[in-house]
Amino acid sequence: MEDRFTANNPYVELMYTEFKDWSFDEKADNNRGYWRERVFQCSAETPLDLEIGTGNGTHFAKLSQAHPGRVFVGLELKFKTLVQSIRRAVRAGCQNARMARYRAEGIKELFAPGEINNVYIHFPDPWPKKRHNKNRLIQAEFLLNLHEVMQEGGVVEFKTDDYDYFKWAVRYFRASPFTISFFTEDLHHSFRKDQNFVTHFESLFLQRQQPIYCCLLKK
Ligand SMILES: C[S@@+](CC[C@H](N)C(=O)[O-])C[C@H]1O[C@@H](n2cnc3c(N)ncnc32)[C@H](O)[C@@H]1O
Repeated sequence: MEDRFTANNPYVELMYTEFKDWSFDEKADNNRGYWRERVFQCSAETPLDLEIGTGNGTHFAKLSQAHPGRVFVGLELKFKTLVQSIRRAVRAGCQNARMARYRAEGIKELFAPGEINNVYIHFPDPWPKKRHNKNRLIQAEFLLNLHEVMQEGGVVEFKTDDYDYFKWAVRYFRASPFTISFFTEDLHHSFRKDQNFVTHFESLFLQRQQPIYCCLLKK
């Protein structure tokens, strides 16, 4: 437990008490290569999906509930949103969901090559100032690492409201080992609208009638 996060934060205690069997801290990487076998106690063939930056967990819980035959790992940095995410999933009766407080940039330490099937990256922090662009999640090295930990045929769903970040991301996607299988600058007026699940952040941008940019990447 990190002291600077623990003071007056009830979510830290919840993570280590009520939700201790459902969430992991930075030691989550002890599960590398064994998520299916040790954590979910499921077969090696069960699909394992990852959501990066679950926020309040609306999408994470919905997904876990809709696909009981798959298992889901969510990553969050903030204790509050981590607890909200796992609480939503547990209260929805999901046995197939776990959260980890882990930086997505360290994905190679968290998963073995080929361990993950599909990946969801929804509305990652945009870091709009030029001098902060280096903090964006989508970078050449991250995409190489993500590609390595995914299985052949796995899909990454990327959504953002930030046009500058979208253009940045697509440039990196094109230069990465992934294939872009879908691309739109207006998801809610595209044929994928009906298959799309609106995340918490997405609902806020839709209220302001902002377009949602979306890309699917295939390994
Ligand atoms: C803008 S919110 C989007 C939340 C959610 N995906 C949605 O669409 O409603 C981005 C979330 O990513 C988390 N986050 C930011 N950087 C991260 C990182 N490097 N690894 C894991 N999570 C991160 C933040 O704590 C925040 O909750």
